[in-house]
Amino acid sequence: MYSCAVILAAGEGKRMRSSTPKVLHKICGKEMVNWVIDGIREASIDDINVVVGKGSEKVIEGTKNKQVSYSLQEEQLGTGHAVICAEDFLKGKTGTVAIFSGDAPFITSETIKKFLGFHENGNYSVTILTSKVDDPFGYGRIIRDENGEVVKIVEHKDCSIAELLVNEINSAIYCFDIEDLLSSLKKINNNNVQGEYYLPDVISVLKSEGKKVGAITAEIEETKGINSRLQLSEGEKIMRNRINKKHMENGVTLIDPDTTYIGGDVIIENDTIIYPNNVIEGKTVIKEGTVLYPNSRIEGSIIGKDVTIQSSVILDAQVGDNTTVGPFAYIRPESVIGSHARIGDFVEIKKSVIGEGTKVSHLTYIGDAEVGSGCNFGCGTVVVNYDGKHKNKTIIGDNSFIGCNTNLVSPVQVESNTYIAAGSTITNKVPEGALAIARAKQVNIEGWVDKKGLRK
Ligand code: UD1
Ligand code: CA
Repeated sequence: MYSCAVILAAGEGKRMRSSTPKVLHKICGKEMVNWVIDGIREASIDDINVVVGKGSEKVIEGTKNKQVSYSLQEEQLGTGHAVICAEDFLKGKTGTVAIFSGDAPFITSETIKKFLGFHENGNYSVTILTSKVDDPFGYGRIIRDENGEVVKIVEHKDCSIAELLVNEINSAIYCFDIEDLLSSLKKINNNNVQGEYYLPDVISVLKSEGKKVGAITAEIEETKGINSRLQLSEGEKIMRNRINKKHMENGVTLIDPDTTYIGGDVIIENDTIIYPNNVIEGKTVIKEGTVLYPNSRIEGSIIGKDVTIQSSVILDAQVGDNTTVGPFAYIRPESVIGSHARIGDFVEIKKSVIGEGTKVSHLTYIGDAEVGSGCNFGCGTVVVNYDGKHKNKTIIGDNSFIGCNTNLVSPVQVESNTYIAAGSTITNKVPEGALAIARAKQVNIEGWVDKKGLRK
């Protein structure tokens, strides 16, 4: 049977107190609405419509790689009204529409598949995903009759004292027969405490018309909605546990999962060992056998096999196999570090290529440079890439030895198999096979201390 999905994401999220629309707040590095979209896609529903409103441009921008369509809800008159705004998307379709909230990011594709199967096999007009919870505060309550059949959903703010005690809640995830949904939406009103058109009100409309209303339950860990910063932090923990568990099942050692922060889009190969306090974000890939000692932040980077990293920051860069990084290295965007290389303590690499086996062990800055393989940088080398107006390029060949405290004033070229004497300031090309010395010659003035009467 044909199925599609609508995600409600037009609300502002007042309780977040934020200028960012609620559904763009991130959980484990990924926007809540994108977690929902990815979960739906994984459940093989491809036709996805997102209802946007408050901050619509931002939400469209934040979901632009997800191949979804959009409906606009100009005024936020409630969740029922939001679905009415998706009428153009739904009109003329027959089959099932699954409805989700952009602020409920934990639903898994397995549960979506099960839910859809239950709805379609049971020929329901609507099926509600519910959860049993200890604290139902804030949620709509599922009200059942004496036979256990769902008759209506009552919002927290509209509940009677007896209804407040009900601990089965509406997840705001539903499957609807598309035609039944569209016709029943015309029959809801906004006579309630919030003066809104509630989507859950279509349940009682359909029930009163003798339609089949079904419900299945899922763990609250999958159905939780996020309305505040406190819930956002609780959600972060739920998602982190889930992500970390998946990596451990895939053969990654996490010494302390409670202090390991891995984003939702990170790929880690087996036999990687991750010590506490590592933050790995974006579309990072970490290949087999790599060890991350404590305290690094790695974002959007590709880390090769058997790499060792400690206490470093690596952003949008690549690190080759068997290379060691840190402690206290900073590898900045668009840098490519070769294999068997060494980027040591207090080294900053900015937008540079470092060849295979090259060692940059301590206290060095390399910016806008192309460095060959087998080079050795002495302590305290600086690539002087900025003349106050322009960033210039430095090119260094293979197997060059750059002495300690060298300045390489860009643009400049150092050819292969060269030596640069310590303390040199290089402004001209160093030709292949040469030794370059560019510093003042040493002068010794004999007996100077006594002549000046300075001996202690
Ligand atoms: C909603 C449900 C409640 C359920 C809870 C589960 C309603 C009336 N209530 O309550 O039964 O227990 O979710 O988390 O549906 N939205 C729009 N347009 C609007 C209003 C909201 O697109 O005019 C979107 C929001 O962006 C959000 C979602 O709908 O993603 C839910 O809205 P929210 O205000 O958070 O509803 P809850 O009070 O949490
Ligand atoms: Ca909500």
